[in-house]
Amino acid sequence: MTNKKVVVCVSGGIAVYKACELVRLLKKANCEVKVAMTKNAMEFVNPTTFEVLSQNEVFTSVFPENKRKDTYHIELARWADLVLIVPATANIIGKIANGIADDIVTTTLTGTKSPVIFAPAMNDFMFENSAVQQNIQKLKSFGYLMIPPGFGELACGIYSIGRLAEPEIIFAEVEKFFKNQNLLLGKKILITAGPTREFIDPVRFISNPSTGKMGFAIAEQSQKMGAEVTLVSGKVSIPFPNGVKLISVTTAEEMLKATSENYEKQDVVIFTAAVGDYKPKTISTEKIKKSEENLTIELVKNVDVAYELGKIKKGKIHVGFAVETENEIANSQEKLKRKNFDFIVCNNPKIEGSAFSTPTNKVTFVFGNGKTEELPLLPKEQVALAILEKIFPEKF
Ligand SMILES: Cc1cc2nc3c(=O)[nH]c(=O)nc-3n(C[C@H](O)[C@H](O)[C@H](O)COP(=O)(O)O)c2cc1C
Repeated sequence: MTNKKVVVCVSGGIAVYKACELVRLLKKANCEVKVAMTKNAMEFVNPTTFEVLSQNEVFTSVFPENKRKDTYHIELARWADLVLIVPATANIIGKIANGIADDIVTTTLTGTKSPVIFAPAMNDFMFENSAVQQNIQKLKSFGYLMIPPGFGELACGIYSIGRLAEPEIIFAEVEKFFKNQNLLLGKKILITAGPTREFIDPVRFISNPSTGKMGFAIAEQSQKMGAEVTLVSGKVSIPFPNGVKLISVTTAEEMLKATSENYEKQDVVIFTAAVGDYKPKTISTEKIKKSEENLTIELVKNVDVAYELGKIKKGKIHVGFAVETENEIANSQEKLKRKNFDFIVCNNPKIEGSAFSTPTNKVTFVFGNGKTEELPLLPKEQVALAILEKIFPEKF
């Protein structure tokens, strides 16, 4: 991490002393470190400690004495390769989630375009407070990274959630961040995600329970590693990842059109979308009335996005997803050949915590040479990383 410029923002929680150790670890790894402190953080540790550890001036005010005032308040924001907020109080989290910039720490955080990692720490009731949780979700949706607090002994003497991640863990996350940052620089990845909708009449459609979480997780991880990401998504209700080109579609035909139009320049296409295999033969122009006892809707085969692009694949890598409830491996092998995939990620919604609508997934990789590799049940972010590792083994 030699010469990486890290700003450590310190807010007023009991865990401020751990930020001292973090600064020491960063300096030992040859980072350049500058520290900014809130007024309340200085109630816990004197700025001199950080000044000595960072071997740099400590920023404690937007209007410091004897300093040039014109751009002082955004000096750190521009200087940083990475900004850490350790510990992040409930107060700081709330301020940044709402665009407040009323001291040197919040001004630096709102004024930076560099990546920011929050390490929250607080009493368990504060952490579980609905407003705090909502603010954390809001920050995540803005693209801020989080190192969640752990369980442990809290300053108030109880054993619960809210304890700041240990400095060694935060340091390891910083190392991982810099290592991953440019791993996929120059790579172009298109990801299809979410469900498609096929309309029966103006107010009803056939769809499936896909939430888009798996595709969005891959898009987010790829973008964080520097790839240029295009996300073609069906209608979903989860926040869109920052920094990706998003194309929102409704039907399978729209998904095929958007994917084809953006296909040529891609290195990799990952087909996570749950595309409807069938659609109504005709769409009623008026709402179908509830008149007959039974209603029969004739369905016809839908376009197959992965199959169509598989026909013109050339040098690109295509990764498919298979939702199978029986004969998973054999069905995936057949699909892999028919759609010209390089490998398939197979998941079974009958396994608890797997496939649709869950934050986790249990997948098996199925390769063209007949090999398979089964992963344990993992958060979708980790499944996303495992998929990227399989696509770019030379990068990891
Ligand atoms: C002894 C003590 C410990 C505190 N620890 C925390 C803490 O761990 N997390 C937190 O969010 N607030 C904590 N607080 C409350 C914050 O200091 C308070 O909300 C303050 O307004 C935060 O200001 P800042 O975010 O500008 O630094 C603590 C207060 C005291 C007196």
